[in-house]
Amino acid sequence: MDSIKIGMIGFGTVGAGVVNLLQDRGDSLAERVGVKLELVRVSVRDINAKRDARVDPLMLTTDPYEIANSDNVDIVIEVMGGEEPAIGLALQSLKNGKHLVTANKLLLAMRGEQVYQAAEDAGVELGFEGAVAGAIPIIRSIKNAFAADRISQVQGIVNGTGNYILSRMTDEGKAFDEILKDAQALGYAEADPTFDVEGIDSAHKIAILGSLGFETPIDFGDVYTEGISAITPEDIDMAREFGYRIKLLAIAKRNTDSIDVRVHPAMIPADNLIANVNGALNSVEVVCDVSGTSMLVGPGAGSGPTASAVMGDVVDISRKIINGAAGKTPPLSVPCKSRTKIPVRPMDEVMSEYYLRFTVPDRTGVLSMIASALGRHKISISSMIQRGRMENEPVSVVLTTHMAKEANLKKALGEIDDMNVCAAETMAIRMVGAG
Ligand code: NDP
Ligand code: HSE
Repeated sequence: MDSIKIGMIGFGTVGAGVVNLLQDRGDSLAERVGVKLELVRVSVRDINAKRDARVDPLMLTTDPYEIANSDNVDIVIEVMGGEEPAIGLALQSLKNGKHLVTANKLLLAMRGEQVYQAAEDAGVELGFEGAVAGAIPIIRSIKNAFAADRISQVQGIVNGTGNYILSRMTDEGKAFDEILKDAQALGYAEADPTFDVEGIDSAHKIAILGSLGFETPIDFGDVYTEGISAITPEDIDMAREFGYRIKLLAIAKRNTDSIDVRVHPAMIPADNLIANVNGALNSVEVVCDVSGTSMLVGPGAGSGPTASAVMGDVVDISRKIINGAAGKTPPLSVPCKSRTKIPVRPMDEVMSEYYLRFTVPDRTGVLSMIASALGRHKISISSMIQRGRMENEPVSVVLTTHMAKEANLKKALGEIDDMNVCAAETMAIRMVGAG
């Protein structure tokens, strides 16, 4: 074999990064693998679109199945995104004996079990380091570095766009929409940026991490997901006043007979490491029974970091091809059949401390109505701040609570809503790592 032939499906932000690495580092990559890595075919939607990297125009095709079915491709890189037609292309590539590298977290969160089984059945390699937390080597850490350990928790910031927005809101007090536009221009955001700001992208990633870490299939519908679009500059200011920062947190945690898998904004003590991971950086904390707690921090989005992760997988797989070791170990480190289903604990049963911001008239009795409703549902208040005092204008009343059950909080907030005293939707943010 004098070269490893690569076909790439998709040539956008990440695809351009891959082409640049293959072109700029060709000699060094060949030294690492033993033979040249050769890009032979690239599929796009629009042949004439302007791109951030150049390839021979004859390499381009609008039919991605040409790559999945080609006899001249060893490794397929899928950086197209979305569920359809990506799933068909992934399965066809695997069935045809091609090794697959994908950065498509949506695909793995929604259809991972099918893809993992197909890769195992075909005896080929599957790389998906680029799908979670950009350049942070979290997939290979879970599969290899912690292979002898038992993981009890994986949590962190796994969406660069969301973290970039929250960080700039915190530092500059700028409006949400203005910052989102910058994140899009920098190539961090998904094709549909609501995936980033509504927590869906983080949910895809934590479903993948939880599934890999706890060796269980996870139904994506079971992942509780809440985004950052309702967070206001006032919440960020109040968090600061209480000594916290707001982050979009993705949590996968083992309980006795269940797992938690969820994504939501969280108020984190300002001196906590995760609270200080800013900009488009991501961080993932892994808690194991033998090694303890490790934390990885790095660039979580964008062309270069993601392409670097994708190419790390390509090099790894190419070396195995050259050494005759490709497809000899299961793609998830353990065989698919040994993964057992662990139920996801319903969100209603989760316990947390809460930050609650009510928008109410500054009138005698209102606060006691709110406090009574919370008390009726066993929610105990730990502190209170009232902001503003303008004649006939609603004011913000912020309460923090002791540990309470999510179901009880929902009931109490429902009762408070029914009292018709709130002039705007109540904001509830879970406080994590306090005390
Ligand atoms: P882009 O939208 O920039 O690029 C997507 C590419 O796929 C484009 O070249 C597009 O063609 C092609 N494409 C899309 N749909 C089709 C289709 N139906 N048929 C054929 N070609 C198609 O996306 P990104 O590069 O940002 O992301 C690619 C993947 O990587 C996604 O799964 C994303 O979630 C993931 N990812 C992205 C990161 C990032 O920071 N951007 C980070 C980590 C993962 P054309 O250009 O002609 O329109
Ligand atoms: N849109 C994603 C993010 C890209 O902002 O994190 C990286 O997966």
